[in-house]
Amino acid sequence: MAYPDSTLITHIGELVTNDGEGGAFAARPDAALVIAKGRVAWTGPASQAPAADSAVDAGGRAVLPGFVDSHAHLVFAGERSAEFAARMSGRPYQAGGILTTVAATRAATDDALRANLARLVAEMARQGTTTLECKSGYGLTVADEARGLALAAEVTPEVTYLGAHVVPPEFAGDPAGYVDLVCGPMLAACAPHARWIDVFCETGAFGADAATAILAAGREVGLGARIHANQLGPGPGIRVAAEAGAASADHCTYLTDADVDTLASAQVVATLLPGAEFGTRHPYPDARRLLDAGVTVALATDCNPGSSFTSSMPFCIALAVRDMGMTTQEAVWSVTVGGARALRRPDVGHLGVGARADLIMLDAPSHVYLAYRPGVPQIAAVWQAGRLVAGSIAP
Ligand code: NIG
Ligand code: FE
Repeated sequence: MAYPDSTLITHIGELVTNDGEGGAFAARPDAALVIAKGRVAWTGPASQAPAADSAVDAGGRAVLPGFVDSHAHLVFAGERSAEFAARMSGRPYQAGGILTTVAATRAATDDALRANLARLVAEMARQGTTTLECKSGYGLTVADEARGLALAAEVTPEVTYLGAHVVPPEFAGDPAGYVDLVCGPMLAACAPHARWIDVFCETGAFGADAATAILAAGREVGLGARIHANQLGPGPGIRVAAEAGAASADHCTYLTDADVDTLASAQVVATLLPGAEFGTRHPYPDARRLLDAGVTVALATDCNPGSSFTSSMPFCIALAVRDMGMTTQEAVWSVTVGGARALRRPDVGHLGVGARADLIMLDAPSHVYLAYRPGVPQIAAVWQAGRLVAGSIAP
């Protein structure tokens, strides 16, 4: 008897399920998968596939869990291509560039911000992203931060309040006053729209004490902690993350041995964002060192108009494999289960029975092609909760 309301995808050349022991990378050849009621209902050998209401022939192509992009800044207006071009000819990246985008974002209408956000979300879907996190952080007033979060909540439940991105110009002489605003009236206006709170802990942004206070204030109103840490140089961010019980510390480009030990022992996910190193010419973070120390590693885009204007998880996979010491299996795990762990989402990132049916079919026979053919569009079709949302199933 067929599963009710079901779709069978069969003749899958390689099915990446990530349902190995403890959520480890796992893949099987010559496989099939049944989607029913928006969830994975069955996986196994194609020869044993059960009947379903409709069938899709993958024709030997690979099927993977949809990508979980756990770090993106998508509510903004304007662009900074001139800044990028200057960096590529030797100018350093400075946190202050954020203020250019803050000015443009404050001046934009809701509809302009919504349209830019929708364009980026669609761009992500076409590249295989089925879960995304979205931060505020280019408003930096009570009204502009709350507006950014309300817009983000229209496209994802993984909404992050980043009022503590940088100190805005009107508080240049009173950074402590800005931290009070972030922890007080701004938090009160923003918390109803958000699941997470984040802070940019870095020289030129917020120090350890401010970051600790901001994450604690968020926790008081039920927001989970995450942090931008050690992006541009060494600093206290990893310790702050561990003490705050953060789900994830993001960037992790400049780490001491003590930082690596802290991430491992406190079970804070290290979310690596190689698009930012690509766009700022900083060295890539050393994923191998983290993995060998037992740290859970996620990979995400950091999509934003300043440091990393890519929405492509396949691009991040290619960089991680080529330049960060990850195997193809580790990189694929990090863009799926890794991202899900960074967001504490057990329902996505894998294709075990009961998972949300978020999956991608490649125009290729195995996951290796994501790194092997960098820059080539290879996402043939994308399903979100069992519904085809991008591409097509044509061979
Ligand atoms: O994650 N590090 C802080 N925030 C962003 C950059 C934002 C920008 O340059 O506009 C990041 O890289
Ligand atoms: Fe970021």
